[in-house]
Amino acid sequence: MASHALVLMCPPVHFAVDYVINPWMQGQLGQADRRRAVAQWQALRVVLAMHADIVEIAPEPGLPDMPFTANAGLVLGRTFVPSRFRHAERRGEEAAFSRWFEHEGFDVRALPGDSLFEGAGDALFDRAEPRLWVGYGHRTDLAAVSALARVLHVETIPLALADARFYHLDTCFCPLSRGHLLYFPAAFDAAARAAIEARVPASRRIVVEEADALAFACNAVNLGNVVVLNRAGATLRIALENAGYRVVETPLDEFLKAGGSAKCLTLRLDEVLPVSAGRL
Ligand code: ARG
Repeated sequence: MASHALVLMCPPVHFAVDYVINPWMQGQLGQADRRRAVAQWQALRVVLAMHADIVEIAPEPGLPDMPFTANAGLVLGRTFVPSRFRHAERRGEEAAFSRWFEHEGFDVRALPGDSLFEGAGDALFDRAEPRLWVGYGHRTDLAAVSALARVLHVETIPLALADARFYHLDTCFCPLSRGHLLYFPAAFDAAARAAIEARVPASRRIVVEEADALAFACNAVNLGNVVVLNRAGATLRIALENAGYRVVETPLDEFLKAGGSAKCLTLRLDEVLPVSAGRL
């Protein structure tokens, strides 16, 4: 089946760990090997290009985290809601991404109010139900969740993030195409876990162990039945295969030094809400 997924990526030619804004960057200042990062990014791009059309935005000097396009903002249909970054170090990306989306003809709509919001890093559409899961607490503000619901006319489910290592929702949570959810429960507070369990039946929840979570297994790019990620242990791989997915590993350890992996390096440009048909 031909895939029409459209994915935005940004070549990591200026990628570096130049500051510390998450626990992964601690001790990594100046440690990223850019040549290796470019090679790993190219390999990821090749894998993704088998299942999606890739669009590139030009990287800008002085914005070392710009390759993490998931944080540009959030797309639904032709609407783009730009991010408002928590850390000054990333705020320069806001104008660069907004310019690109305007140029591409998207309807760029700022979130009302002044709440912080880090885009598709913290806001993930369910793949089976018309709803948006939004992580908050580390980067995105709780107030952004209701603001997103108003702008995008979609049901939003706030999820409090409770572990600083999993500071964006996409580091610990990944809705999958067949209605499954890949996630690391310990990254959430009890209320968030209950909110997830109330909506996704146990048979659809694929729980990731800590070792896989720390290897960014939840930071997966799911295109059709393919799940592309940095690394998955044997148990997780089997769980995904039993649920009907094909797992493709592609090493991204240079980006782990900045606290990112496969999913962070991508932004879907073709998001539409699924028709609620119940889970499989
Ligand atoms: N260094 C970046 C930051 O801390 C990494 C962003 C990773 N992106 C993501 N969607 N998880 O902001």
